[in-house]
Amino acid sequence: MTTSAGSLQEFLKQIENFESESTPAFRDAATSEALEAARIKYLGDRSGLLKAIQRELGQLPKEDKPIAGRAFNEAKTRVESLFEQRSRAVGGSPSASQIPLSDLTMPARHQWRGAKHPVTLVIEEIADIFRELGFTIALGPQVETEWYNFGSLNFPPDHPALDAHDTLYIKDDVLLRTHTSPVQIRTLQRFPPPIRILAPGDVFRRDFFDASHAPMFAQIEGLCVDEGISFVDLKAMLTNFATRFFGAARTRFRPSYFPFTEPSAEMDVQCQLCEGIGCAVCKGTGWTEILGSGMVHPSVLEAAGVDAERYTGWAFGMGPGRIALQRYDIPDIRILYDSDVRFLEQIARPVLSEAEG
Ligand code: DAH
Repeated sequence: MTTSAGSLQEFLKQIENFESESTPAFRDAATSEALEAARIKYLGDRSGLLKAIQRELGQLPKEDKPIAGRAFNEAKTRVESLFEQRSRAVGGSPSASQIPLSDLTMPARHQWRGAKHPVTLVIEEIADIFRELGFTIALGPQVETEWYNFGSLNFPPDHPALDAHDTLYIKDDVLLRTHTSPVQIRTLQRFPPPIRILAPGDVFRRDFFDASHAPMFAQIEGLCVDEGISFVDLKAMLTNFATRFFGAARTRFRPSYFPFTEPSAEMDVQCQLCEGIGCAVCKGTGWTEILGSGMVHPSVLEAAGVDAERYTGWAFGMGPGRIALQRYDIPDIRILYDSDVRFLEQIARPVLSEAEG
């Protein structure tokens, strides 16, 4: 007991000495150098006096520790706050407790990079292939007149084909275009054949929002008009495109109907999601329709002021959204339009990586 009491007294004396010695040292430090020297001497991490006293605190008998510890902490707080106060006064370096805590072993923060949307990637890839076949990009307005959207394209008024093209009307005969086909007319009106254009753009329909439909989606229109163009050109070019774009996938043409083409055909590629077995996206058929096509109807050429006796042409319209589903194995078209970056990031190729090669 005596030893313990003795050592406690000694310890408390040490603290007193520490405080009475360090206090004037800090108080009188007039420069940041002097202050820093005092800090190292009294509060330094390795050989500071306070550290030495702390080590002795650890050696004290258990029953003395509460009193010794409290005295130690009180003196420490006083001296440290005096140091802090002085370091502000002399404008010295911040004390350890002012340096923000940072863990240098933490993983670096993920760097955000902009990226292209999967549908944009598909459009660009398709445009690249058709560019090599001589096609140029053409654009048209999203708000169209009834004549450009329907009349010029040979839709008779009240024809059942109009049902699939229900849309939002801005006013009587002005509407949100339901397809990119009006760009065919606008181009033919402005430029004489030969014409080879690709017209990507957004279109609008009164459609359900389900796994394979959206009320707004992208389309790509293709048009080729020249002398002597036949169905052979259509089939050859579109098959060439499908082989290049989809690799070795099988393709097929099915007879179809569009008011602006005659004859008309739909082109399918084998569903790449289920490889022809049948799934929700291909509705169990094993095939995915990628485009509608046909020989441009003579009345369409005439409506645009092109001599249909001299010129013939073929055209197609496809949905790059659906193609993106195939391309990136996406089971639901809504994912493309949800703008959920956690998902889009998985597909999107960073814009920079293109430049980086
Ligand atoms: N415009 C049609 C649609 O949206 C797609 C289409 C089919 C465009 C055949 C064409 C074509 O140019 O020849 O349903």
